[in-house]
Amino acid sequence: MTDKIVLDYCKKMEELGIKNKVLEHPPLVEAAQVVNHLGYTLDDSVATLIMKADDDFIAVLRRDVTKISFKKIKKLLGIESLRIATPEEFSKVTGLEIGTARFYVPNLKTYIDKEVFGKKYILGGTGSLNYTFQCLSEDLKKLPGVEVVDVTVPIEQEKSHSTSVKRVFSGIRATGRLHLGNYLGAVKGFLELEKSGEYETVYCVVDVHSITTPYDKNALAKNKREIIIDYLAAGLDPKKSIIIYQSEVPEHIELAFYFSSVVTIARMQHLPTYKDKVKQHPDANTMALLNYPVLMASDILIYKAGLVPVGIDQEPHLEVAREIARKMNQLYGTDFPEPVRFATKGEYIPSLTGEGKMSKTVVNSFINLTDSLEKIRKKIRSVPTATAAGGEMSPGLKTLFIFAQLFIPSEVEGFKKSYQDKSLQFVELKDRIAEAIYKELKPFQERRAKISADQKYVDEVIRDGAERAHRIARETVKEVKHKMGLL
Ligand code: TYM
Repeated sequence: MTDKIVLDYCKKMEELGIKNKVLEHPPLVEAAQVVNHLGYTLDDSVATLIMKADDDFIAVLRRDVTKISFKKIKKLLGIESLRIATPEEFSKVTGLEIGTARFYVPNLKTYIDKEVFGKKYILGGTGSLNYTFQCLSEDLKKLPGVEVVDVTVPIEQEKSHSTSVKRVFSGIRATGRLHLGNYLGAVKGFLELEKSGEYETVYCVVDVHSITTPYDKNALAKNKREIIIDYLAAGLDPKKSIIIYQSEVPEHIELAFYFSSVVTIARMQHLPTYKDKVKQHPDANTMALLNYPVLMASDILIYKAGLVPVGIDQEPHLEVAREIARKMNQLYGTDFPEPVRFATKGEYIPSLTGEGKMSKTVVNSFINLTDSLEKIRKKIRSVPTATAAGGEMSPGLKTLFIFAQLFIPSEVEGFKKSYQDKSLQFVELKDRIAEAIYKELKPFQERRAKISADQKYVDEVIRDGAERAHRIARETVKEVKHKMGLL
């Protein structure tokens, strides 16, 4: 049964002349998860941002594939200050739970970015994490007092501001071996940016982040080195990229502490990633865990990196990094860029269980980069599929088609057709995907074996990376201390 709050909203929208449909799903906060679950993409979804513009609140509707340009809004409205509302302000203004913002926010001046009309049908919030609203984009012009404006930039065109060297930073925790999600969502982006030759790239094993949840110290020491080897085996070139352990550049931790002075506890407590971890480890709700996003902001901003290749699950953390950069720049006159995400085609790899994302911490959800063909085949065969072909695809089957799109794109249409005419043998699709995944991983596995046999080389990479990273990090910390009155 649809929630009353959702029914009332839909009725109100009908009264305004906005015909709509409501799509049901499990409780999901992130737009990427919602669209993925419903079989759409971020191209179809529109977010309502509640913003504080000088002393007033406004609502801005933007497509999820675009990013708000603060500059454009400020210019348009002739205002001095502009920021995203805090979670408390959001709840007060909308009366809704975070992540459920709707297109219609009564009593608020609403600006719709012109890109919203780039799609005929669009998806948005309903006030409930279980339902998503769908309507014709054109119909949004019927909302009371709305204005169509040009206030976004496409995500990939966003330029980091005032840094003279264009830098890229990313990191992976040392909580286990790399899986396919890490590879497709992050490492492929690392490689692409390194290869472009346009950036100074810094890639890190964020070992200090690994201690923010309960861990085994012997496993950590081993895992962190294995990830460096994974980076090299994936094809990162230590002559081009700086490859480091986070703990070997302690300035990351020092800067994180300075940053923590501009972040409220409430802001950190509201992050969905924090809430998830507390649920997973209720007895380990530590200061380190609460500080996780602040340390991540420090990792990125210490190199003044404007571009961060990470999966879509990291977007809330990047938002925090941007807020910290803005706050530091406002308060202390620093010149931190507002880092944006560099997305790969595999920005959200679903779990093999058919529920949620592929994750190191969820058993049976992932494929390791070192898995053999037999193992991969067994894992892919275990993805739950519908018993009969045709009709609505089950979540597991949608997952298989995501893999198919990534690994055998030219065969997707054929498989979809045979699904529709009910001739599809699931095992045939599964085995084809397994083979294609293995084909991509095989060269990685061969390189990995060679690199593992040369531990001296690995030591050299780590030593050289630390030195180069130090030089940059030291400068930033010195500048921040000076600007904050500590030097
Ligand atoms: P971590 O260790 O959880 O994940 C590492 C990277 O893998 C991506 N990823 C995925 N991408 C697509 N689909 C999936 N199922 C999937 N699972 C994981 C993540 O998005 C990430 O890019 N907070 C970070 C580590 C970090 C960091 C940083 C990243 C610390 N400081 C500074 C960038 C910049 C994390 O937990 O990643």
